[in-house]
Amino acid sequence: MKGVLLEGMTALRSATGTEGALKAMEMNEKTTNRRYEEAQDWDVPPNVKGVLELNLDDERRHLQYIQSQLHVTA
Ligand SMILES: [Fe+2]
Repeated sequence: MKGVLLEGMTALRSATGTEGALKAMEMNEKTTNRRYEEAQDWDVPPNVKGVLELNLDDERRHLQYIQSQLHVTA
């Protein structure tokens, strides 16, 4: 359900051009970053914790890249 909402928001913002699409993507990445940050406190087996840490690193990289491109288009 959340994925469908995020995709819908991205499509909606994409109609406003590159900057709008980037802002929609930024919003999605902030959500996934927040969720993975919350997941760092979960009591899970070490192998799962490792995956959650790697995914958080990925999501942080995605957000940083999108924000760097927003500065280019601004
Ligand atoms: Fe991402």
